[in-house]
Amino acid sequence: MASAKSVTVRAAVQGESGAITGLQEAGFGIRFGGDEQEFRGEVFPVERSLVAVEGDRIVGHTVDRTMTVTVPGERTVRACGVAGVVVAATHRRRGILRELYTAQHARTEAEALPLTIFTASEGTIYGRFGYEVSILDTAVAIDTRRAEFRSTTPDPGGVTLETLADAAPRIREIYERWQKVTPGAQERPDAKWDMFFADIERHRQGATTLFVLLHADGYALYRRSRRGEHGIASIWEFRAATPDAHAALWRVLLGMDLVDTVEADIADDDPLAHMLTDPRAVQLTRRGDSLWARIMDVPAALTARTYRADLDTVMAVHDPFRSAGGNFALRIRDGIAECEPTTRPATLSFDINILAALYFGGQRASTFAAAHRLKAEDPTVLRAFDEAFTADRAPQLGWFF
Ligand SMILES: CC(C)(COP(=O)(O)OP(=O)(O)OC[C@H]1O[C@@H](n2cnc3c(N)ncnc32)[C@H](O)[C@@H]1OP(=O)(O)O)[C@@H](O)C(=O)NCCC(=O)NCCS
Repeated sequence: MASAKSVTVRAAVQGESGAITGLQEAGFGIRFGGDEQEFRGEVFPVERSLVAVEGDRIVGHTVDRTMTVTVPGERTVRACGVAGVVVAATHRRRGILRELYTAQHARTEAEALPLTIFTASEGTIYGRFGYEVSILDTAVAIDTRRAEFRSTTPDPGGVTLETLADAAPRIREIYERWQKVTPGAQERPDAKWDMFFADIERHRQGATTLFVLLHADGYALYRRSRRGEHGIASIWEFRAATPDAHAALWRVLLGMDLVDTVEADIADDDPLAHMLTDPRAVQLTRRGDSLWARIMDVPAALTARTYRADLDTVMAVHDPFRSAGGNFALRIRDGIAECEPTTRPATLSFDINILAALYFGGQRASTFAAAHRLKAEDPTVLRAFDEAFTADRAPQLGWFF
């Protein structure tokens, strides 16, 4: 058995895309079609790949691209978005992922990006590297026969059924408006839009191509499939920039004939269940993690977002994997943070993972204190931390990668 010592990590070169794709297909159990491979190569170009190599064989891989992500306060942060992480089944558990991540982090640090983000295949892998679930994801199934709107729910109308090609410019414009005000949502680059509008076959999983419902301030893209008595509508992407667009689109979606169930991913603060006479019509089908994050530079990350309350504290942040920790003084006034290393004693103490969990404002420090993962001597400091970090809107991932 070869040890990790016989493996070296380096930047990939042109001509290695085929071997990298093969490794990913085997690792994830997927066959990418030719068109999908091309789109993927544009979203995550091979020049940004790191490979672990043994002899002339590629046995491990990561790739990244810099993403612009909305943070609380309708500001943005630049983040390293990592994807395609895989180690050959023949070489697993010899420290190759660890080496790849060490190299990946060194590159992110050299590029002065304060945050690293990704979506994870398993929940047990990344905590050791300082990552934590940063955005949670809720999947629901709505029984259309039980879904009656309350008399107080508006019926604004204005929704049209469009083709994807005709609606494309409007969809982009609405997404951008939604993304700019939604913590956690990333700008979608041109290459990703091209892939999105191509509606690639693998994503259909036996269902139809995408149907488009368009409103001046929102859209819903969905697929239909035959399941149950009549069928299912599965929402691929729903974005509403105003409450009227949200209500108008849901009224059409839940009123469709020959649809027993509508499936969707919704934000934690989505008001849908409260707009119906029977909130149980909206059944939770999955609660999971959509985005993982790691703070690379504590002061740069924390000063990029705004806060809801004033705060004066010293945090002891532990980072055994990368040494980005230490004691930091955090002072927040009128939403704006100052954060710098200090020798003053800390009033709060936690692993760097916890800052990633709180970063987009969707989770509370007190939850992690209750989980014995954050120590606060004084409960008033913990309350103040909760109040400061909570965001006005629940965070949501903009696009999966
Ligand atoms: C997940 C994967 C990349 C791990 O690669 P690897 O080279 O075996 O990982 P390493 O040997 O460097 O492991 C590093 C640490 O993570 C742990 N670890 C790795 N994979 C793990 C897993 N799936 N579950 C739990 N722990 C895991 C190791 O035990 C090791 O722990 P330690 O160093 O703290 O003792 C590899 O198994 C793989 O490609 N899996 C299939 C594709 C996949 O899931 N990719 C991740 C996409 S987000």
